[in-house]
Amino acid sequence: MGFAVTVRQFDTPLDVEMGDTILQTALNADLQYPHGCQSGNCGACKSRLYSGEIEMSPYSEFALTDDEKESGLILACRSVPWSDCEVAYLEQDEVVAHPLRRLACTVREIDRMTHDIVRVRLSIEAGGPFDFSAGQYAEVSFGDLPARDYSMANRPGDELLEFHIRKIAGGTVSAYANNQLKIGDPVQVNGPHGISYYRAKHSGPIVALAGGSGLAPIKSIVEEALAQGARQPIQMYFGVRDARDLYLEDYFNDLAENHPNLFFTPVLSEPSGKTVHRTGYLADVVAADFADLDGSKVYLAGPPIMVETCVERVRARGVGAEDCHADAFYTEADKAKLEATS
Ligand code: FES
Repeated sequence: MGFAVTVRQFDTPLDVEMGDTILQTALNADLQYPHGCQSGNCGACKSRLYSGEIEMSPYSEFALTDDEKESGLILACRSVPWSDCEVAYLEQDEVVAHPLRRLACTVREIDRMTHDIVRVRLSIEAGGPFDFSAGQYAEVSFGDLPARDYSMANRPGDELLEFHIRKIAGGTVSAYANNQLKIGDPVQVNGPHGISYYRAKHSGPIVALAGGSGLAPIKSIVEEALAQGARQPIQMYFGVRDARDLYLEDYFNDLAENHPNLFFTPVLSEPSGKTVHRTGYLADVVAADFADLDGSKVYLAGPPIMVETCVERVRARGVGAEDCHADAFYTEADKAKLEATS
């Protein structure tokens, strides 16, 4: 026995089997329900519950705040109906609906960027064309290893797909990509996913905040904004722990030199020696640099703690919730911890 779930954007109700989620049922029916992580971490499937009862399995406060839950919002990927329901997913501004693709790719370039990050470039052999919006991500699988989510660091339309893969303690997939992956290896890429993409219609200032390998989607967004002729100030910050964790510094310095509206600031949170760079936590540095960010769009990508603290600070500086586009990179260990503690 199941429940009928009316999704206001769809013509016919979903028949959700007992114990299944609303999102999974929609995706199984090949319906375009906005989603990202499918694990309660990103907030991409945020929806309003108009009637009926659902139960939500554990999720991150970043994806859905208590206030949002209180006001009737739910995460479709965590919501199991307990009665017939009526819901609607939240409409995104500048909606993108790129077709989901299953791409067979080949490794063309591997470059070590830091002691624990490699840049992998792939050519698409079959399954394309691959349309995506700057800032989105895909599920990437190497050989028989399980798929992991990585953001595209290249601009949409570039010939090669580019991913930045940081080696995570205990992470078999990231260790494989860092140590064993070879030129010519086949790679499966499924996507695109994610709602933290570049909004080209926004003409106000842009603040782009990257932490660690979160540089990948921020690079794509900044490059895309410049390529589309954005003239407003683009304040880009790259937060890392120490100087050895910085990469593409020369590339972004050159880019800023050639684009007077781009400002690039690396920030070190734990420098081991003297440095010419700004120091401190990214959230504190940004809060110190801007008294008022009203009217700005802020794009953020990086470790959850960085994203959460930065969102808090920029919101306190006047950025509306609808102008914060954040991608927090949860590792498999983060996700497991979330499941265990909630
Ligand atoms: S898809 Fe539901 S929170 Fe990410």
